[in-house]
Amino acid sequence: MVLSGSDKSNVKGVFAKIGGHAEEYGAETLERMFATYPQTKTYFPHFDLSHGSAQIKGHGKKVAAALVEAANNIDDIATALSRLSDLHAQKLRVDPVNFKLLGQCFLVVVAIHNPSVLTPEVHASLDKFLCAVGNVLTAKYR
Ligand code: HEM
Repeated sequence: MVLSGSDKSNVKGVFAKIGGHAEEYGAETLERMFATYPQTKTYFPHFDLSHGSAQIKGHGKKVAAALVEAANNIDDIATALSRLSDLHAQKLRVDPVNFKLLGQCFLVVVAIHNPSVLTPEVHASLDKFLCAVGNVLTAKYR
């Protein structure tokens, strides 16, 4: 997944706009993913998945921070998320299809809260970025 120069600046623009809301967006993304694609809940049997749970908020914060980290290091996402790649591919063994589901939910959350930001071009760039992140996190299966 190759991001062009304009993809990179579009993605950075989205995260600049999101700013301090990233943590809330992370939690809302998870909540939407669990509601819309209940099969994703199988990876979180140890979590309280009820609306507004502290675990969803806490985990949403971590996921959002990882996305911000990837956007801040958009030229080398593989290095920036190397530890998380080990975790997801080697320990958690999350089926790669699930990354697309999480990515879609994040896109929806961004769109709902910032309707004017998500032009078709920015939508496409953000989608490419989220695919790139998913590819990195599923790159080490063996
Ligand atoms: C843990 C990020 C996708 C399942 C984590 C952590 C982060 C993270 C930052 C915490 C690591 C730590 O505590 O050191 C991401 C990002 C994703 C993604 C950026 C995609 C954009 C997914 C998907 C699933 C998943 C699609 C499954 C549906 C898990 C599980 C944990 C975890 C089960 C461990 C939770 C716990 O026990 O605390 N992820 N993740 N992740 N992730 Fe992901």
